[in-house]
Amino acid sequence: MSDILETIITRRSVKSFKDCEVNSEQIEKVLKAGMYAPSGKNLQSAIIISITNKKVRDMLSSVLANFRGIESDPFYGAPVVLAVLADRSVPTYVYDGSCVIENMLLEAHSLDIGACWIHHAKAVFETDAGKEILSSLNIKGDYEGIGFCVLGYPQVNPSGSIPRKSNYVFKIQ
Ligand SMILES: Cc1cc2nc3c(=O)[nH]c(=O)nc-3n(C[C@H](O)[C@H](O)[C@H](O)COP(=O)(O)O)c2cc1C
Repeated sequence: MSDILETIITRRSVKSFKDCEVNSEQIEKVLKAGMYAPSGKNLQSAIIISITNKKVRDMLSSVLANFRGIESDPFYGAPVVLAVLADRSVPTYVYDGSCVIENMLLEAHSLDIGACWIHHAKAVFETDAGKEILSSLNIKGDYEGIGFCVLGYPQVNPSGSIPRKSNYVFKIQ
């Protein structure tokens, strides 16, 4: 079993992406990492919508920008948007979805793909446009947007890891 600590420590959020597609095999690996996240009672309450279609990706970007009242692309030009939603009827749904996103961020980094967690998926999937995506995929049930994991090849690689606060860990020995 290899130690993944180096991957965890060197992962950074990428916020500037090259305008080129991501290799589909690499996207599949990132999705698999998400699917193998732990979940409460193994109920696997989360789902992932993988968006590589530019029209849909741009539409989601506009919906989110509009919600935030900004002009810029909240996905930073990333060509791939992985939307994670989870079933509200499962008590651990937010945690389940969050584990999925973190797994995908780490796998992306291990493949030298830039990635970033983007917030406000909940708001996006509460809009008519968001609901339309769910119904077009025949996704039924009480799903809430947990977050977006955007992927692409980095234009700028953030350097170094961010120092951790001093009072992170408390030990009872
Ligand atoms: C729950 C969550 C929501 C986030 N939402 C956004 C976001 O909407 N936009 C963004 O640029 N970064 C977002 N981030 C990324 C954080 O800005 C980033 O993780 C933080 O600054 C630490 O930097 P690092 O990931 O490079 O260690 C989010 C991260 C988390 C965990």
